[in-house]
Amino acid sequence: MSLRTATAADLPDIMALERDSFPSDAWSEAMMAAEIASPHGRYVVDVEAGTLRGYGGVRAVQGAADADIQTIAIAPAARGRGRGRALLAELIASARSRGAREVFLEVRADNPVATALYASEGFVEIGRRPRYYQPDDVDAVVMKLDLAGWARAHEARPEDETPGKGWC
Ligand SMILES: CC(C)(COP(=O)(O)OP(=O)(O)OC[C@H]1O[C@@H](n2cnc3c(N)ncnc32)[C@H](O)[C@@H]1OP(=O)(O)O)[C@@H](O)C(=O)NCCC(=O)NCCS
Repeated sequence: MSLRTATAADLPDIMALERDSFPSDAWSEAMMAAEIASPHGRYVVDVEAGTLRGYGGVRAVQGAADADIQTIAIAPAARGRGRGRALLAELIASARSRGAREVFLEVRADNPVATALYASEGFVEIGRRPRYYQPDDVDAVVMKLDLAGWARAHEARPEDETPGKGWC
């Protein structure tokens, strides 16, 4: 897998995967374009042989103590092979390199796959937002990651192909 910072040229492929991955609450193209262009975050794509396999974004204002994972998606045919974890690690590393100490995210309560990924990286549930996702009427689970603990855990696993050298 090959991770790099997303550009405006990636927008059509990102939107196709966005609509496929989030059929009832996909972001608009304008919103995604603004996110990719924002200096207050970083969007990353996983591209293999010219084909988009995944994307994700983190909002991390330089110098702010907290950051937010905004979105992450892997193409259906490419799931279950470690790409989601690698992309998430890259986003977390970007937040850390911008000075964040904690990373937050919201995940649908009916998404056990994503929740398991986040929990296995050290995110813990800190609350719920009832009926946050509309029109599906699904609760949001709010999760938080302590970056110092995450960094210690990754440094203790030097055999990992830990991405994220702070490209920001
Ligand atoms: C969530 C998502 C990004 C995970 O990406 P992925 O590449 O499939 O995940 P990985 O292969 O890196 O697996 C990471 C962990 O996710 C969990 N996981 C992955 N596939 C799973 C499955 N079929 N069932 C249960 N848990 C699963 C496991 O905890 C796994 O860790 P493990 O391999 O050590 O057991 C992907 O499933 C996806 O794009 N889903 C649709 C969009 C979405 O829900 N995004 C999250 C919004 S909050």
